[in-house]
Amino acid sequence: MPDILVSENVSGAEMDDLKKKYQVVYEPELFKDQNKLMGMIGDFRAIVVRNQTKVNADLIAAGKKLQVIGRAGVGLDNVDHVAASSAGIVVAFAPMQNSISVAELAIGLMISMARMIPAADKSTKAGGWDRKKFTGVELFGKTLGIVGLGRIGFLVANRAKAFGMKIIAHDNFVNPDSFTVSEIGAELVSLDELFKRADVISVHTPETPQTAKMFNAAAFAKMKPTAFFMNTSRGGVVDEEALIEALRSKKIAGAALDVRSVEPPKPSPLTEMENVILMPHVAAFTNEGQDRVQKCVCADVDAVLSGRPAMNYFNFAMPKKNA
Ligand code: MLT
Repeated sequence: MPDILVSENVSGAEMDDLKKKYQVVYEPELFKDQNKLMGMIGDFRAIVVRNQTKVNADLIAAGKKLQVIGRAGVGLDNVDHVAASSAGIVVAFAPMQNSISVAELAIGLMISMARMIPAADKSTKAGGWDRKKFTGVELFGKTLGIVGLGRIGFLVANRAKAFGMKIIAHDNFVNPDSFTVSEIGAELVSLDELFKRADVISVHTPETPQTAKMFNAAAFAKMKPTAFFMNTSRGGVVDEEALIEALRSKKIAGAALDVRSVEPPKPSPLTEMENVILMPHVAAFTNEGQDRVQKCVCADVDAVLSGRPAMNYFNFAMPKKNA
């Protein structure tokens, strides 16, 4: 009887240990075939996914024996955690494990936009030596607007402070008296004010019905024409057509996207824009970050399957259904 279905690429020593202890079916491309996945899920006590497997209500209903969904990452937009919770299934994930990696990429993107590093690199490798065109801007003294002051937003702001940036932030849930706010000396502002004042806008909000396409034409219209916009959270929070139009009409100066509304993305005018940096959703992908994520999720899947509580769970530590 199989125990664990792995439908995406989750590896490492901890996964090897799971394979020794349990019957693991490892099909890292399975996320591409939802019908096959639907046909298989009923046999398993656990499924381990990244962000591409659609763990929707239908899959959860078909997972009659499921006790735990292990999400190797933070975002739960591909996991119907409401359906999982009503079915009594533990949703284990890996909060904090990749936050530093994401924050470091965000800082890299910010410097890359300010100094046009990718475009200058491309031009110089092609034989150019255009020093005037590649005159950038300093981050010192500029205002960084963080949308979503959670773990990652905090780490980005904390690092940006070292550049002498002023931090403003918008987050409906953060306590103004919290350490998070005082440590980075953030000024909490409305979204509109953040759009108006920020020189760099960094997005760190999950994708929910409330945040879907919150960066739309109206939002870009409020930003400075010199503003850089960067998104390392979820592509669905940005209206990509509106972003393209904002870049074309020079409503903002540039953008850096690690995440897209559809992944992998369809052909887009963004790929032709020199002031746009595109990455293939790899902010969390560092050796260290992935080691921690894999360790965390494998440990919790093992815990639940052995009757122990998970440590990092979204809903509850132990399944609320009979095995
Ligand atoms: C995360 O949510 O952990 C990152 O975006 C990486 C991923 O989706 O797997």
